[in-house]
Amino acid sequence: MRCDQTPAWKSLQQHAEAAKGFDLRKAFAADAQRADTLSQEAPHVFADLSKNHLDAATEALLQTLAQQTGLVAHRDAMFSGAPINHTEDRAVMHWLLRQPEGSLTGALAEPLALVHGTLKPMLAYAEQIRADAQITDVVNIGIGGSDLGPQMAVIALQDFVLPGKRFHFVSNVDGHELAGVLKNLKAANTLFLIASKTFTTTETMTNARSALQWFKAQGGSDVGRHFAALTTNVAAAAEMGISTTFGFWDWVGGRYSMWSSIGLPLAIAIGAQGFQDFLAGAHAMDQHFKTAPLAQNLPVRLGLLDVWYRNFLRYTSRSIAPYHSALRRVSAYLQQLEMESNGKRVDRNGQTLPYGTSPVLWGEPGTNGQHAYFQMLHQGTDIVPLEFIAVKKPTHRLKDHHELLLANAMAQAQALMLGQDDAGGHKHFTGNRPSTFLLLDALTPASFGALIALQEHRVFVSGSVWGINSFDQWGVELGKVLAKDIHARLVSGDTAGLDGSTAALLKRLR
Ligand code: F6P
Repeated sequence: MRCDQTPAWKSLQQHAEAAKGFDLRKAFAADAQRADTLSQEAPHVFADLSKNHLDAATEALLQTLAQQTGLVAHRDAMFSGAPINHTEDRAVMHWLLRQPEGSLTGALAEPLALVHGTLKPMLAYAEQIRADAQITDVVNIGIGGSDLGPQMAVIALQDFVLPGKRFHFVSNVDGHELAGVLKNLKAANTLFLIASKTFTTTETMTNARSALQWFKAQGGSDVGRHFAALTTNVAAAAEMGISTTFGFWDWVGGRYSMWSSIGLPLAIAIGAQGFQDFLAGAHAMDQHFKTAPLAQNLPVRLGLLDVWYRNFLRYTSRSIAPYHSALRRVSAYLQQLEMESNGKRVDRNGQTLPYGTSPVLWGEPGTNGQHAYFQMLHQGTDIVPLEFIAVKKPTHRLKDHHELLLANAMAQAQALMLGQDDAGGHKHFTGNRPSTFLLLDALTPASFGALIALQEHRVFVSGSVWGINSFDQWGVELGKVLAKDIHARLVSGDTAGLDGSTAALLKRLR
């Protein structure tokens, strides 16, 4: 049943009306157990949900909504390999990439064997490159899911990265990016990884061709040694002259692909064992999502909280505040994960939806954000739920820094909630502003894998309740088609039939 037609939706609307005066300060004063009951452990991740506009009654109603919209059956369908991405007639099995070898029977045994049959040579290749002292620079050329995941992960796990190798990520068709990277490289010391699920994406193909030209112009000849393709379209890579290839499958969505061969830059950076640990952390979260009761299932609780905020309290945005500089690309990654997955305006049958779906996601690492846009979070006219991500143990030994960092994260969450009553006018903080606090004990390949799998599954949960297909992305197609047309016109100067603005811009840009 579509979510807005369920009895639970109606109850939640009434509950939201009744909860209009909800005040976090009063909620804590009235319930000494609140921090406990609204916190939980999941594999590698502790979550404190207690500073949210939420209570046990709201959560119970949200779980009823999940039941009435068939969340459990939908989740189980994903884990059974059913083609739940129905507009592309594909299964959704990024989770299978983290499944231990030989651990499934039946129809999934064969794809799991394929996964490990591909993972092993990829990890062996990663070890070979790690041992190859001549290769000092690894350049990943890819965009969207073929860039954001591996780039974020290599930065996040910088403390585990092999010294002596540099990693570069080129995504934009803007030649300034590739040119800026190439000018510091030598062909003999560089490995290019061409990462593209489809091997048709204009930006990546353009950058790959330019990298090949540069390599040959520098006197490079052994393309087999200096280029590898990470793709489901091995034939297209071969056509470009790239013979070293690592494949994956159409049942891995682009934004869910860093667990596949798209993760090769990370595997080179942190090694085969590190990559296995990363997969194992994510797998632990998969198991949690699969088996924990809804009331203690962290991806379910977060996904339902997202629905509560978006549809009942009408918060249109969520800000991410990673209080760890190594997590600085996490917001960009989550932006694609949430907004490309759930930025949909029709249900699974193509019917226009009368309710909101994906919130706008954005954010910068703390404490930087505090000195930039946190003003608006504290005193602006809109309420923006904030998601803190903090790490208990640092890996550096610099005195005071980490305590200051964590103190700031806690102080911001506290200030948002408590506000400041005792001053009027410009100095007044209303408080009662919601936040979630996610905490890792240490930032390791395993905990990082679990954190990202948690985010994947919470996006699944809200998308499932909204009744949309979270696994297609038709909305990116129109711009691609129009760019081809405008590109040809930019060359020819033909403005016939164009709208006035585009025609005028085109003339100016020629
Ligand atoms: O245009 C959007 C998109 O298809 C994303 O979904 C994807 O992650 C990105 O482009 C890159 O696609 P590919 O890996 O096929 O080059």
